[in-house]
Amino acid sequence: MGKKKSASQSTAPPAPPGERTPAGDPDPGRRSLLHTGGRIALGGCGLLLGAGALRTAWPDLGQGGPARLSLGPRSDFHRGSLTYLPAARLFLLHDAEGLGAFSSRCTHLGCALRRSGEGLACPCHGARFDAKGRVLSGPPRRPLPWFALEVDGEGVLWVDLRREVAAGTSEPALAEGAAG
Ligand code: FES
Repeated sequence: MGKKKSASQSTAPPAPPGERTPAGDPDPGRRSLLHTGGRIALGGCGLLLGAGALRTAWPDLGQGGPARLSLGPRSDFHRGSLTYLPAARLFLLHDAEGLGAFSSRCTHLGCALRRSGEGLACPCHGARFDAKGRVLSGPPRRPLPWFALEVDGEGVLWVDLRREVAAGTSEPALAEGAAG
């Protein structure tokens, strides 16, 4: 009389390396490799997402573009106006003292400012500036920088983004070499 096999005994052949056995034990070496690969992939995704978020919060730190820009005829800027110049990334203020140009980029992390009431507001972290670029509230520690203005012989206004000047408006200097 032969012995009967118990219910727990299996007749299946042993699983090849790397395969799960019927009892559910994976190959430990393969599992470790998969975990490491998964962590690297997740870490890469996290870095990409983090870079995207940083880019959103920090869209632009520099003025970019050429250093000297034409802003158009001086006569286009009427007294009492504050004009947004998106191509130059500037605001141009014309008040009783004259003209002045200052950056439209927040001095916290560089977001583009928007007009808000009498001043400017930053959509990124809620900073507020007055109409002359002074910080009223929020994280920025520095006022908006102002840049030198010149007017050429044709009455065209130019800004030099390499030359920061004291905040405030004045009559623009005659551009070097400008006729008349
Ligand atoms: Fe942070 Fe403007 S970028 S308050």
